[in-house]
Amino acid sequence: MNKIVGGLFLTLEGGDGVGKSTLQRSLNQRISEAGLEVIMCREPGGTILGEKLRDALLGSKKKEVDALAELLVFLAARTQLSTEIIKPALERGAVVICDRFADSSIAYQHYGRGIEKSIIEDLNTIATTGLMPDRTILLDLDPSVGAKRKGQAQDYMEQETIDFHNRVREGYMYLARESPGRWLIVDALQNEDVIFDLVWSDLAQRIKD
Ligand code: TMP
Repeated sequence: MNKIVGGLFLTLEGGDGVGKSTLQRSLNQRISEAGLEVIMCREPGGTILGEKLRDALLGSKKKEVDALAELLVFLAARTQLSTEIIKPALERGAVVICDRFADSSIAYQHYGRGIEKSIIEDLNTIATTGLMPDRTILLDLDPSVGAKRKGQAQDYMEQETIDFHNRVREGYMYLARESPGRWLIVDALQNEDVIFDLVWSDLAQRIKD
């Protein structure tokens, strides 16, 4: 099995229904073919505790959950995932592809809910002991298109208004433009093969070196 010294930590971000899971599966296949160990995970979730927290939170009615309590649940799941799965995998030289990570909390809980950004940044640092993705792919899509793609199933965040989701989208754009060295912005309206090719041409160098 090939290894990358210190591993490679990739995260996929964006609104709901943008195609993160499809991209994650295609990347998994291509990177595994390059002989590397790939760990796929998602947030919230990816551990026994994290999946329980996910069910508890995303199965709730919006009005039952306080905004700070919501943030702390995401952070608890992130702490467990970072310690139990992500860090050991990176130490083994694996590629970790995580569907959402710390940036989701800035996008949703700061730009969406209005919790102060510096509080979330500090809590993210505590939860992950400062672990940052090497590359973050932002799949950008109009939230109304994302909602249509997802169909009728109204999960916890989909009970939010279109204004909320537009703020999240703009927040992601702001974050991505602020740190272009880490983020790759991809128009998620494109065909999934085109999206994969764009992302792969961005990542291939890091995988092959
Ligand atoms: P998903 O896994 O289907 O994308 O659902 C997770 C939902 O939780 C999604 O609507 C985004 C939201 N979320 C936050 O609001 N903050 C976070 O920190 C994370 C990880 C997810």
